[in-house]
Amino acid sequence: EEHISQTLPLFGKNIVVSAGPTYENIDPVRFIGNYSSGKMGFEIAKAASKLGAKVTLVSGPSHESVAGYPIERVNVVSARDMYQAMHDNFAKADVVVMSAAVADYRPKDVADQKIKKNDEDISITLVKNPDILKSLGEIKNQQILVGFALETNNEEEYAKQKLAKKNLDFIVLNSLQDKEAGFQKNTNKITIIDKNLSMQSFEAKSKAEVAIDILKVIINKL
Ligand code: CTP
Ligand code: CA
Repeated sequence: EEHISQTLPLFGKNIVVSAGPTYENIDPVRFIGNYSSGKMGFEIAKAASKLGAKVTLVSGPSHESVAGYPIERVNVVSARDMYQAMHDNFAKADVVVMSAAVADYRPKDVADQKIKKNDEDISITLVKNPDILKSLGEIKNQQILVGFALETNNEEEYAKQKLAKKNLDFIVLNSLQDKEAGFQKNTNKITIIDKNLSMQSFEAKSKAEVAIDILKVIINKL
C-alpha cells in the first residue's frame, strides 16, 4: 500500500549496491575469479528494498537471487563492466554500497582462441583494474558512500587507510579472525568504521542480520 510504504525509513531513497565477484577472461573458456558468493550484497539489496528504498543491484556472476523483490538487477562480468554500471547509476544514488569482490588485476591480453598446452610453462601478465570505489569517491557529492574491507592482518589500520583513500562515509570491516565469517559463509562478523573514525563492532550473525545493522547506520546518517 502506497500510504504504508511512505512511512518506511528508506522510502524515496535510491540505493545502488554492488555484489559478487568479477571474472576476468583469459581466453574464451577460462577466467580469473574469486570465491565471493554475492550473499552479503544481495542481503543488503533485499533488506533495503523491504525498508522502502528503490534498489539497483549491480552483480557479478552469482547464484543468489532477488526474485520477488522490486529490485533492478544489472548483471556484469568483469571489473570494467562493473565500473561502467556503477558510474551509469551513480548520479541518481543517495546511497552506494560497494560489497563486490572486485578483481584487482586482469590479464593484459585475452586470447581469441582457447590457449593450447605445450611442453613449456607459461605466464600471464596482469594489469591493474580501475578502483571503482575510489573513482566514485572522487566524484561524489550528496551520496553516502560505503565500502567493505577484507583483511587478514593489521585489519583496523588497513581499513582506516581505505576509508580515507577512497573518500568513504563508512567502511565495513569483515573480520576473517572469526571462523564464522567471510566468503561462502552464511554469517559475518563486522566492524563499521565511520569517517570520523568512530568504531562499532558487532557479534557474528547471519548476513541478513548484518545487512540490517549496516542499513541502520546508513539510515541514521540520511
Ligand atoms: N574495490 C573497488 N574496485 C577495485 C577494488 C576494490 O571498488 N578495483 C572496492 C571493494 O568493492 C571494497 C573496497 O574497494 O568495497 C575495498 O576492497 P579491498 O579489496 O578490501 O581493498 P583494495 O583497495 O582492493 O586493496 P587490497 O586488495 O590491496 O587490500
Ligand atoms: Ca582488492
